[in-house]
Amino acid sequence: MTDRELIDLAAEAAKTAYAPYSHFPVGAALECSDGKVVLGCNVENAALGCSICAERSALCHAVQLGYRSFRRIAIYAGSTGFCTPCGTCRQMLSEFSPSMEVLSARADGRYVSYRLSDLLPVSFGRAELER
Ligand code: THU
Repeated sequence: MTDRELIDLAAEAAKTAYAPYSHFPVGAALECSDGKVVLGCNVENAALGCSICAERSALCHAVQLGYRSFRRIAIYAGSTGFCTPCGTCRQMLSEFSPSMEVLSARADGRYVSYRLSDLLPVSFGRAELER
Protein backbone atom coordinates (compact mmCIF):
# COMPACT_ATOMS: atom_id res chain seq x y z
CA MET A 1 0.00 0.00 0.00
CA THR A 2 1.30 3.46 -0.83
CA ASP A 3 1.60 6.25 1.72
CA ARG A 4 -1.18 8.07 -0.12
CA GLU A 5 -3.55 5.11 0.13
CA LEU A 6 -2.88 4.77 3.84
CA ILE A 7 -3.50 8.50 4.34
CA ASP A 8 -6.75 8.28 2.39
CA LEU A 9 -7.92 5.54 4.76
CA ALA A 10 -7.03 7.74 7.73
CA ALA A 11 -9.06 10.56 6.17
CA GLU A 12 -12.03 8.21 5.80
CA ALA A 13 -11.67 7.18 9.44
CA ALA A 14 -11.68 10.84 10.50
CA LYS A 15 -15.25 11.04 9.19
CA THR A 16 -16.32 8.65 11.96
CA ALA A 17 -14.72 10.65 14.77
CA TYR A 18 -16.85 11.66 17.75
CA ALA A 19 -15.42 15.08 18.58
CA PRO A 20 -18.28 17.34 19.75
CA TYR A 21 -16.07 19.19 22.26
CA SER A 22 -12.88 19.94 20.34
CA HIS A 23 -14.46 19.93 16.87
CA PHE A 24 -11.15 18.42 15.82
CA PRO A 25 -11.90 15.06 14.15
CA VAL A 26 -8.88 12.82 13.67
CA GLY A 27 -8.50 9.52 11.82
CA ALA A 28 -5.72 6.97 11.97
CA ALA A 29 -4.83 4.04 9.72
CA LEU A 30 -2.46 1.57 11.37
CA GLU A 31 -0.64 -0.86 9.11
CA CYS A 32 0.18 -4.16 10.80
CA SER A 33 3.21 -6.31 10.04
CA ASP A 34 1.27 -8.49 7.57
CA GLY A 35 -0.21 -5.50 5.72
CA LYS A 36 -3.61 -5.52 7.43
CA VAL A 37 -4.83 -1.96 8.08
CA VAL A 38 -6.82 -1.16 11.21
CA LEU A 39 -8.61 2.17 11.50
CA GLY A 40 -9.26 4.40 14.48
CA CYS A 41 -10.81 7.77 15.27
CA ASN A 42 -10.88 10.03 18.28
CA VAL A 43 -13.79 9.46 20.64
CA GLU A 44 -14.42 12.26 23.12
CA ASN A 45 -16.45 12.31 26.29
CA ALA A 46 -18.21 14.91 28.46
CA ALA A 47 -15.64 13.96 31.09
CA LEU A 48 -12.90 15.25 28.81
CA GLY A 49 -10.08 13.21 30.33
CA CYS A 50 -11.82 10.01 29.23
CA SER A 51 -11.37 10.90 25.56
CA ILE A 52 -9.18 8.71 23.38
CA CYS A 53 -7.10 9.74 20.39
CA ALA A 54 -7.44 8.19 16.95
CA GLU A 55 -4.03 6.52 17.19
CA ARG A 56 -4.80 4.68 20.43
CA SER A 57 -8.26 3.79 19.19
CA ALA A 58 -6.66 2.05 16.19
CA LEU A 59 -3.95 0.47 18.33
CA CYS A 60 -6.40 -1.01 20.85
CA HIS A 61 -8.53 -2.42 18.07
CA ALA A 62 -5.48 -3.97 16.38
CA VAL A 63 -4.25 -5.54 19.62
CA GLN A 64 -7.70 -7.01 20.18
CA LEU A 65 -7.44 -8.56 16.69
CA GLY A 66 -4.18 -10.19 17.75
CA TYR A 67 -1.63 -7.84 16.19
CA ARG A 68 1.52 -6.94 18.07
CA SER A 69 3.78 -5.46 15.41
CA PHE A 70 3.23 -2.47 13.16
CA ARG A 71 4.93 -0.94 10.13
CA ARG A 72 3.28 2.48 9.71
CA ILE A 73 0.54 4.69 11.01
CA ALA A 74 -1.08 7.50 9.03
CA ILE A 75 -2.83 10.32 10.86
CA TYR A 76 -5.25 12.78 9.27
CA ALA A 77 -6.93 15.68 11.01
CA GLY A 78 -8.09 17.84 8.13
CA SER A 79 -6.23 20.76 9.69
CA THR A 80 -3.90 23.27 8.11
CA GLY A 81 -1.04 21.95 10.23
CA PHE A 82 0.40 18.46 10.51
CA CYS A 83 -1.16 16.44 13.33
CA THR A 84 1.52 14.40 15.08
CA PRO A 85 0.69 11.91 17.87
CA CYS A 86 0.41 13.18 21.45
CA GLY A 87 2.87 11.93 24.06
CA THR A 88 0.56 9.23 25.36
CA CYS A 89 0.01 7.82 21.86
CA ARG A 90 3.75 7.87 21.15
CA GLN A 91 4.35 5.85 24.30
CA MET A 92 1.55 3.39 23.56
CA LEU A 93 2.70 2.81 19.97
CA SER A 94 6.32 2.51 21.10
CA GLU A 95 5.41 -0.44 23.33
CA PHE A 96 4.90 -2.53 20.21
CA SER A 97 6.97 -1.03 17.40
CA PRO A 98 9.42 1.68 18.49
CA SER A 99 10.85 2.21 15.04
CA MET A 100 7.60 2.27 13.06
CA GLU A 101 6.95 5.04 10.57
CA VAL A 102 4.53 7.86 11.42
CA LEU A 103 2.85 9.75 8.55
CA SER A 104 1.09 12.99 9.44
CA ALA A 105 -1.10 14.47 6.73
CA ARG A 106 -2.78 17.84 6.54
CA ALA A 107 -5.86 19.04 4.68
CA ASP A 108 -4.07 20.11 1.50
CA GLY A 109 -2.77 16.56 1.03
CA ARG A 110 0.83 17.21 2.00
CA TYR A 111 2.33 14.94 4.61
CA VAL A 112 5.46 14.47 6.67
CA SER A 113 7.09 11.22 7.73
CA TYR A 114 8.86 10.47 11.00
CA ARG A 115 10.40 7.49 12.69
CA LEU A 116 8.58 6.93 16.01
CA SER A 117 11.92 6.59 17.83
CA ASP A 118 12.75 10.14 16.70
CA LEU A 119 9.44 11.42 18.09
CA LEU A 120 10.04 9.62 21.39
CA PRO A 121 13.78 9.56 22.04
CA VAL A 122 15.33 7.95 25.14
CA SER A 123 12.00 6.25 25.81
CA PHE A 124 10.96 4.05 28.69
CA GLY A 125 10.07 0.57 27.56
CA ARG A 126 9.76 -3.05 28.59
CA ALA A 127 13.51 -3.52 28.72
CA GLU A 128 13.80 -0.99 31.55
CA LEU A 129 11.47 -3.09 33.71
CA GLU A 130 13.81 -6.03 33.36
CA ARG A 131 17.03 -4.21 34.27
N1 THU B 1 -6.21 13.94 18.86
C1 THU B 1 -6.02 12.76 18.22
O1 THU B 1 -6.95 11.96 18.07
N2 THU B 1 -4.79 12.50 17.73
C2 THU B 1 -3.73 13.36 17.76
O2 THU B 1 -2.67 13.06 17.23
C3 THU B 1 -3.87 14.65 18.43
C4 THU B 1 -5.16 14.91 19.10
C5 THU B 1 -7.56 14.26 19.36
C6 THU B 1 -7.74 14.28 20.85
C7 THU B 1 -8.96 15.19 20.97
O3 THU B 1 -10.13 14.42 20.77
C8 THU B 1 -8.81 16.16 19.82
O4 THU B 1 -7.92 15.55 18.90
C9 THU B 1 -8.27 17.52 20.22
O5 THU B 1 -7.11 17.40 20.94
